[in-house]
Amino acid sequence: MARKETFEINGRAYPIIDHTYDVVVVGAGGSGLRATMGAAEAGLKTANITKVFPTRSHTVAAQGGVAAALGNNTPDHWQWHMYDTVKGADWLGDQDAIEYLVREAPDTILELEHAGMPFSRNEEGTIYQRPFGGHMQNMGEGPPVQRTCAAADRTGHALLHTLYQQSLKYAADFYIEYFAIDLIMKDGKCVGVIAMCLDDGSIHRFRSHAVVLATGGYGRTYFTCTSAHTCTGDGGGMVLRAGLPLQDMEFVQFHPTGIYGAGVLITEGARGEGGYLTNSEGERFMERYAPSAKDLASRDVVSRSMAIEIREGRGVGPNKDHIFLHLDHIDPNVLAQRLPGITESGKIFAGVDLTRQPLPVVPTVHYNMGGIPTNYHGEVVTIGPDGDPETVVPGLFAVGEAACVSVHGANRLGSNSLTDLVVFGRAAGHRLRDTIKPGQSHDELPADSADLALSRLDHFRHADGDSSTASIRTEMQQCMSKHAAVFRSDELLEEGKSQLTDIYARMNDIKVSDRSLIWNSDLVETLELDNLIGQAAVTMHSAANRKECRGAHVNEDYFNEETNGRDDENWMKHTAAWFEGWGGKDGSVKIDYRPVHEYTLTDDAEYIKPKKRVY
Ligand code: FUM
Repeated sequence: MARKETFEINGRAYPIIDHTYDVVVVGAGGSGLRATMGAAEAGLKTANITKVFPTRSHTVAAQGGVAAALGNNTPDHWQWHMYDTVKGADWLGDQDAIEYLVREAPDTILELEHAGMPFSRNEEGTIYQRPFGGHMQNMGEGPPVQRTCAAADRTGHALLHTLYQQSLKYAADFYIEYFAIDLIMKDGKCVGVIAMCLDDGSIHRFRSHAVVLATGGYGRTYFTCTSAHTCTGDGGGMVLRAGLPLQDMEFVQFHPTGIYGAGVLITEGARGEGGYLTNSEGERFMERYAPSAKDLASRDVVSRSMAIEIREGRGVGPNKDHIFLHLDHIDPNVLAQRLPGITESGKIFAGVDLTRQPLPVVPTVHYNMGGIPTNYHGEVVTIGPDGDPETVVPGLFAVGEAACVSVHGANRLGSNSLTDLVVFGRAAGHRLRDTIKPGQSHDELPADSADLALSRLDHFRHADGDSSTASIRTEMQQCMSKHAAVFRSDELLEEGKSQLTDIYARMNDIKVSDRSLIWNSDLVETLELDNLIGQAAVTMHSAANRKECRGAHVNEDYFNEETNGRDDENWMKHTAAWFEGWGGKDGSVKIDYRPVHEYTLTDDAEYIKPKKRVY
């Protein structure tokens, strides 16, 4: 039977229900479920806390596939995958972690296949692999490689069902529709997490040897994005409040093909299967920007090219503010078999029959390369008091989009995200297995274990100002969309910083109308906004601070033809950013740096030296 204790905050009683586990995973997307499965399989008593039902996590929206050098459809090697990932990352990725990612990917995929994941198949029964942007043969010298393992265009959906079933098989406990509020830290170590059951408002204190944050990205800091409404960076918010930094937050990926007006994702697999982009003159303009890879150049390059076409007046539509994606030349049977999901999305969200008409698309916020800094075991790292940039935060792990390992550096390649989820979710499972003994005794919880979580909860629950959560959120989103977009400048970013400071100040004037604790979406959206706004601030400040162009971060004040504006001498380093928020603080941001790992994991791989990025 769980122990019960009652905390009193501002004269209001909050009874707490206690739970004890070896491992607690927060989030049930691809990485959270892979870590949950791994820890449970190792015999560790494992809980998963998730605010949505696992198979409805944002990973369900992942369409095109998961990259691994299996070589089923074209020749491939992990060294080629490593080269493409390092180049795609514009040399900001840590090459030891990238080597780990690409070498472990094939085995990780085969494990999923054996666990029952329903991949699409080639004639001879092997997993079907399609081309994706930036994945090439022969160390970037050859034609596109078919490396992306697909389950039609519903790969994330298939992945979630497989991993949820496996986690249940190994007897993990699921706390579904529970919202994690804050970490419990003791002397710099993470010893658990506080969560609220959304259904009845009960407060739960989870004590554990390790907490794995698998809470996804923070796409909802922007007005239009492909991310689900649940992508509010809850783990990043908790980490900032624990006084820890986030890394490389200036790097925000715009996916070239969000449906115009709706933001809904149209997979890059569409271009992988032969789709192409045109401007108002009917020109296949990518041939000018990326003569070799064309429509299959990396995402930052394609998004920027589209933005230039629109800016120079060659956009389509009455306002010339979007671009056409053509699939109408592809055999409708191929579309039905390989891209059924986007065929349906085209009809629903754009009213377009893409077997006959072009689809209106526009670059749309899609992915956060930055996040909670970790090593390749999934352990959270920070800059220690002695200045050591690799100091492990005991008991705290992060995986998936919430984390920054860093394998994606300044720009992620399409289909490397699902690879990241499963490879590092699995790596965290291995690390947990190797460092925790099932049932080993726990540290005593600190006396203030619930103070931060409950004082925030109570503060927002009874907030009685004049600004609605929705109005502050919209202002933040509009500010991010205008000031931290595909093209940036010092002026835009400085204005963005100052606007966000004012918007953060409005959090003191917030109003929550619903005071109950029963499915209080008003309160939960406010806690989510509190998570988002800190990450918006560190993103804007980190972007204003980085005086160069690299990957997805293009500050036009620093662009030059010779290097594309990349300045390796001064900026080949990760940004670490801390946020002074909550508890009367002013929302200021402190910045420091961590070195990029300019070395590989093993002698089998050679360090790939920086050069100018062309596709
Ligand atoms: O285009 C897509 O299917 C998205 C894949 C990804 O972000 O990796």
